[in-house]
Amino acid sequence: MAKSKSLFFCQNCGHESPKWLGKCPSCQQWNTFVEEVVKKETAARADWREDHERKQRNKPHPLQEIESGTEIRVLTSDEELNRVLGGGIVPGSLILIGGEPGIGKSTLMLQLALSLKQLKVLYVSGEESDQQIKMRADRLQQTANDNCYIFTETNTQNIFQGIKELKPDLVIIDSIQTLHSELLDSTPGSIGQVRQCAGELMKFAKETSTPVFLVGHITKDGMLAGPKVLEHMVDTVLQFEGDRHLAYRILRTTKNRFGSTSEIGIYEMQGNGLREVSNPSEILISQKDSALSGATIGATIEGNRPLLIEIQSLVSPASYGTPQRTPTGFDQKRLNMLLAVLEKRCGFRMGQHDVFVNMAGGIRVEDPAIDLALCVSIVSSLEELPVSEKICFAAEVGLGGELRAVNRIDQRISEAEKLGFSEIYVSKFGQKAAAKKSTIQVKSFGKLTEVFSDLFG
Ligand code: TYD
Ligand code: MG
Repeated sequence: MAKSKSLFFCQNCGHESPKWLGKCPSCQQWNTFVEEVVKKETAARADWREDHERKQRNKPHPLQEIESGTEIRVLTSDEELNRVLGGGIVPGSLILIGGEPGIGKSTLMLQLALSLKQLKVLYVSGEESDQQIKMRADRLQQTANDNCYIFTETNTQNIFQGIKELKPDLVIIDSIQTLHSELLDSTPGSIGQVRQCAGELMKFAKETSTPVFLVGHITKDGMLAGPKVLEHMVDTVLQFEGDRHLAYRILRTTKNRFGSTSEIGIYEMQGNGLREVSNPSEILISQKDSALSGATIGATIEGNRPLLIEIQSLVSPASYGTPQRTPTGFDQKRLNMLLAVLEKRCGFRMGQHDVFVNMAGGIRVEDPAIDLALCVSIVSSLEELPVSEKICFAAEVGLGGELRAVNRIDQRISEAEKLGFSEIYVSKFGQKAAAKKSTIQVKSFGKLTEVFSDLFG
């Protein structure tokens, strides 16, 4: 007979308690505990191992005895995904990919499953039927892959049964929120279920060295739905983002045990699936005939890749008391700070103007090297003075209105040169840009005001 007991789980962090609590001792949130029934039944154990394997007990062993260098990463045909994962898929890794509905998570995963011809891939879908997946696959127009298996199932015990029979080399779960385990009585998508199912999959991934991709939903405020522990459990968290109305999608790493977290991959959603964008700077600079006021180009670095991004600002007199400051793809607080610097250190009357700032291509920029380009763009719009489209900028702006040096300036300069810019404005402090025989002119300044008088006279 199944023994069952109920436990209380914090909906915020997944903390477990035998009794109801008003305040979570772990994350300090109020009123987050929900009761869930936990069934302790040995017969229904999630088990994918063969019996003889199960008898071998794992023992502690010295680090010295562990062979190194045997981890060979699986390289996919998708360069962007390889880069974001830190150089391919690590065997036995658990990878969570989150994103808003309709952004293209299922498409990306199905494309991956279809392109990995050398591996046996199991695509488990709890959201779509076999026919729907087939329709999507037809749409992707990729060459047939005999090694791609589809399994529409949500019960983890059945999934492990299927895995035991098929012995796949890679498993994709779409999505973790639709799975449920028989060991818990709560509904799929609840904190306890998500944690339990992810835990079972993690054990499977680690013990069989099979990489597992989990698709996860995100909540309205952009967080991954489910307990925070989910993010702690997995090895890599990828965020798939972008404006649903624009074609560009960005795959960003927010956690990676096997690589850097600053890498991004850029895709374009087309009628027949996602296409890798290998030269992003070209799409991030809009084509226009003449220079417009308020448009400038910043030389930023995302991960290891230099990206030239167009910034557009619109500064217009405020018609109501409190002026609006609306950045898209940029931090609001940082914009407020830069506006204060322009007002206090450079004497522009920003207090009576609405300021709208937009990063081209729906991209989100966190690199402070964009500061100078942003300040120039705002002043250009305020004064109605266009900046030549042959000029780009790379410097951070300090509270004193000084230009601060940014990292990897050489890489930014050579990218700007490659794209045909004639001048780049940088900080005169810090590492001197290597004086190569280049066609681009590097102009160094110490202060924002010097840049403005050089540009606008
Ligand atoms: P989907 O992968 O279903 O998103 P998610 O799993 O993240 O919810 O993405 C579907 C969207 O992408 C949908 O709006 C249709 C669009 N799409 C294309 O534009 N081209 C394609 O080839 C495919 C398969 C989808
Ligand atoms: Mg989907």
